[in-house]
Amino acid sequence: MNNVYILEHPLIKHKISMLRDKNTGTNEFRKLIEEIAMLMGYEALRDLPVKDVQIETPIETCMTPMIAGRKLAIVPILRAGLGMVGGLLALTPTAKVGHIGMYRDEETHEPQEYYCKLPNPIEERTIIVTDPMLATGGSAVDAINQIKAHGGKNIKFMAIIAAPEGLKKLSEAHPDVQIYVGQLDRCLNENAYICPGLGDAGDRIFGTK
Ligand code: PRP
Ligand code: URA
Repeated sequence: MNNVYILEHPLIKHKISMLRDKNTGTNEFRKLIEEIAMLMGYEALRDLPVKDVQIETPIETCMTPMIAGRKLAIVPILRAGLGMVGGLLALTPTAKVGHIGMYRDEETHEPQEYYCKLPNPIEERTIIVTDPMLATGGSAVDAINQIKAHGGKNIKFMAIIAAPEGLKKLSEAHPDVQIYVGQLDRCLNENAYICPGLGDAGDRIFGTK
């Protein structure tokens, strides 16, 4: 799986541990998701191209690097992926934002798509797909299929917590996609929840049950 990057930063690990705590309330949970997304974004955007531009400082004129080339699109998988958008927009405020709506069928755990609206055209953009949880991998694989069907090419996927099963499935289905993970957990349980995980990310972000 050479398209997978497990992020090893202590700040990311610490904040994920706080997320896992069942006593962490909605307000703090939302803030943590946003902060982790920003820290992960810092790592995931390391390869953005830069170009030297001329700037006049108060002292002299110099050539100095600025982000160049490809434009960005952030595409959260609804609902939980929405929680990561603010953290990434703090880094890249001019990015466009698309949305893909998916929910898992409670019995089969298969993803069901209910919404898709992407920036148009999307071909030339670097696309960051966000979802805090990569469990069976079904939602992420289908969301990226949909983005590719709309012409998306240069795609990165960010999950805060992944299960080995989902990571393998996504990496094999989309070997061209760079996958960034904050923490690789142990396994899935019989309800396809990640163990130890953090429970239902969407419910914890939005305070639903
Ligand atoms: C959760 C999560 C992912 C999906 C992961 O969404 O946010 O999208 O499950 O599971 P998978 O890897 O097995 O597909 P959920 O279906 O609970 O919808 P929600 O975000 O609206 O709560
Ligand atoms: N979706 C979640 O929100 N949590 C899990 O553990 C698995 C899927």
